[in-house]
Amino acid sequence: MQYLDKKIQKRIDDKLDLLNSFRPLPVSAVEKLKEQFEIEMTYNSNAIEGNSLTLKETYLVINEGITIKGKPLKDHLEAKSHKEALDYLYTLVETGRNNTISERFIRSLNQIVMQDIDREWAGKYRNSAVIIGGADHKPPEALEIPKLMQNLINWVGDNKKKLHPVELSGILHHKLVHIHPFFDGNGRTSRLAMNIILMQAGFPLVIVLKNDRKKYYQTLSVADKGEYADFVNFIARAVERTLDIYLKILMPSKKSNEKYISLADLARDSKFTEKYLNLLARSGKLEAHKEGRNWLSSKDALKRYMDSRERVRK
Ligand SMILES: Nc1ncnc2c1ncn2[C@@H]1O[C@H](COP(=O)(O)OP(=O)(O)OP(=O)(O)O)[C@@H](O)[C@H]1O
Ligand SMILES: [Mg+2]
Repeated sequence: MQYLDKKIQKRIDDKLDLLNSFRPLPVSAVEKLKEQFEIEMTYNSNAIEGNSLTLKETYLVINEGITIKGKPLKDHLEAKSHKEALDYLYTLVETGRNNTISERFIRSLNQIVMQDIDREWAGKYRNSAVIIGGADHKPPEALEIPKLMQNLINWVGDNKKKLHPVELSGILHHKLVHIHPFFDGNGRTSRLAMNIILMQAGFPLVIVLKNDRKKYYQTLSVADKGEYADFVNFIARAVERTLDIYLKILMPSKKSNEKYISLADLARDSKFTEKYLNLLARSGKLEAHKEGRNWLSSKDALKRYMDSRERVRK
């Protein structure tokens, strides 16, 4: 079964190949990107569930050890723990240990994320019912969790070679939050677990942006019905965003047309309106990625979109 849109898949595969073709990547640039993405993911992943720290504050807390006046202690601790969880992921990937997803691995992620927030339950499966705020899905009864988790691990093993890493990691993410095995931190744990599969396949860190929370929740609820395409393609766009940013920085001096510009700027020299380009970007038809609230794309990307449209017409 193909969940990933073929065109997006090809773009992702090509971009990953391109990134790999530059290996070994310049160490200092990669370190900087890695650090930037760690802060960005920590900020976004925690903010999705209500943490009040801004991106800048997250940076100050993690890198400078600064306490932000007026912000809850809990929010500081969550930032530090999330960073610790990311360091754990990197260590696993770099040492080549743990190349299979296990229950122990998932529980240790939750343990690290929740260690300072709920010492009693961090890393342990829940023993009573929970609800997911803002979602219709009712997670299964606590008694069923061990069996469901075992099935999930088996599912990953069975599908590791059959699915594209973006499909495997995205569906794992959904299955995990669908079970909701922990009292708290399920979202963060799942976004980290998704990332280890992607990292092992050579992708840099993939971030679900806080600004995309609505789409994230909406596509998760479609996946609750067993229809995975929307969620997988939502994750695919996040994967592509990361690749675009990495390539933008690491690609040896590129042609100027591949420069990423705002959709307003792109519209100015084209026959499309900004609004229409925005629609194309959101639907994944035009290669684009978000920085802050704004979509960025390039003249070359628009040309590739127009060429592909020509081809369809012929
Ligand atoms: N319809 C849905 N089906 C399955 N999972 C969903 C659905 N909607 C949201 N989720 C997941 O549930 C998570 C939120 O769950 P919850 O409010 O219980 O907080 P949590 O377990 O602490 O997770 P987080 O770390 O994101 O706060 C979201 O991050 C998302 O991954
Ligand atoms: Mg929570």
